[in-house]
Amino acid sequence: IKESKGFPEDFLWGAASAAYQVEGAYDEDGKGLSSWDAFVKIPGKTFKGTTGDVAVDHYHRYKEDVKLMAYIGLKTYRFSISWSRIFPEGNGKLNEKGLQFYDDLINECIKYKIKPMVTLYHWDMPQSLIDQYGGWESRQSVDDFVNYAKVCFSHYGDRVKHWIIMNEQNVFTSHGWMLGTHPPGKINDLKMFYQVNHHVFMAHAYSVLALKEMYDDALVGSSFAFSPSYALTNKPEDALSKQDYDTLQSYYWMDVYAYGRYPRAALSYLESLNVKIEMEPWDEDILKRSALLIDFMGVNYYQTTTVAYNPPQGVNNLNGENNSGKKGTKAVTGIPGLYMNPSNDFLDKTDWDWAIDPSGLRFACRDITSRYDLPIIISENGLGAFDKIEDGKIHDPYRVDYLREHIKELKKACDEGCRILSYCVWSFTDVLSWLNGYQKRYGLVYVDRDEEENSGTLKRIPKYSYYWYKKVIESNGENL
Ligand code: BG6
Repeated sequence: IKESKGFPEDFLWGAASAAYQVEGAYDEDGKGLSSWDAFVKIPGKTFKGTTGDVAVDHYHRYKEDVKLMAYIGLKTYRFSISWSRIFPEGNGKLNEKGLQFYDDLINECIKYKIKPMVTLYHWDMPQSLIDQYGGWESRQSVDDFVNYAKVCFSHYGDRVKHWIIMNEQNVFTSHGWMLGTHPPGKINDLKMFYQVNHHVFMAHAYSVLALKEMYDDALVGSSFAFSPSYALTNKPEDALSKQDYDTLQSYYWMDVYAYGRYPRAALSYLESLNVKIEMEPWDEDILKRSALLIDFMGVNYYQTTTVAYNPPQGVNNLNGENNSGKKGTKAVTGIPGLYMNPSNDFLDKTDWDWAIDPSGLRFACRDITSRYDLPIIISENGLGAFDKIEDGKIHDPYRVDYLREHIKELKKACDEGCRILSYCVWSFTDVLSWLNGYQKRYGLVYVDRDEEENSGTLKRIPKYSYYWYKKVIESNGENL
């Protein structure tokens, strides 16, 4: 047995957050409203009506948070910029105070030698753009996004070298236009779902080109929510269903980022449904050019999926979320005639029925490496759980188990030739879970707050996993 080479010396051990989930201060210092600020106010949309109005108040407490990061020796902090803090209306007038906030946050990170890794879009579209022209539904969103991206690049690019343009395009578009659970809350609008995706792809592509023109030493990519699939059996129809699933649920996005083209099988499928994506004549060229310039595939990994053949009269359900936190309540998803996703009986599940599968992370890295031959940033991985505070402490060995097993598999992926640049725990502090409120906790650092708006002291308490992660970082992944 060959000895493990371990993680590269310059490996970036990190932790992540997203603006809407941590910042709060939703209308302070000139910030405009975002799609999420508006969406959470619609009754019944979020768990117990929870909002990110205050979130965990990172906007005012970022110094304390960064200091906690510094103590464990974090090498990178992945956070997102809120577009409507920079451009309150999405376009038009720039908000200097918004720019200043991220300047301060970036400088604070650098003070402690923490490399800022910046996401430009973690789902909070300026509400004004939706009011002006329907947001991502209009091609105009591409220009406005690229204008926002350029401002961020030119303002922060001297200090930020890692850029993630889009976070989980597959998730925010499917939840927004198919499931109706994210803004704008549309259900089964298949045509618009694919059109919106095309606009987002173009926004990604033009931003990549713009960044490389300004800073050719910057590293850029987008982060994909990758749930690799396993065929249920060796029946040929299950194998073919797995291909359908992979094409429509994974490669549809990653192929565009990495190859600059849509998978042919997906385009044939869309043709059979009479869905035609409207494109400009130059779009294919732009996508191709940007694909040549991306430096990594960003991967948010939480679970794998199982795929079986689904007969034409079979399961017809796209929403497999269990938002209750009661194990065993997840519905089986499937598209009739294509595939369905039965539960994997070999794997344990979280309280929200997410399959716990550390080898799936290795599988994901190997799949990306062999298909795209790109370096990889694991931009999110973590466990959502009900944490309990006892004697002022949070003992979360279950989270340590989860992270340890995933990091072990990641190490194997490195030994197998995958070029992994970074691993970011989701999340650094507890954050607002979009649809599950504050009860579903991911953080290495506990934040005292709960569902009732403004309740809790917002005090930070490092968990057992926080101290464990410090040892992992110090030993570059050897002391697990
Ligand atoms: C990813 C998102 O989908 O998963 C994060 O990028 C999110 O923003 C995380 O919080 C966990 O999802 P959830 O629904 O458990 O909060």
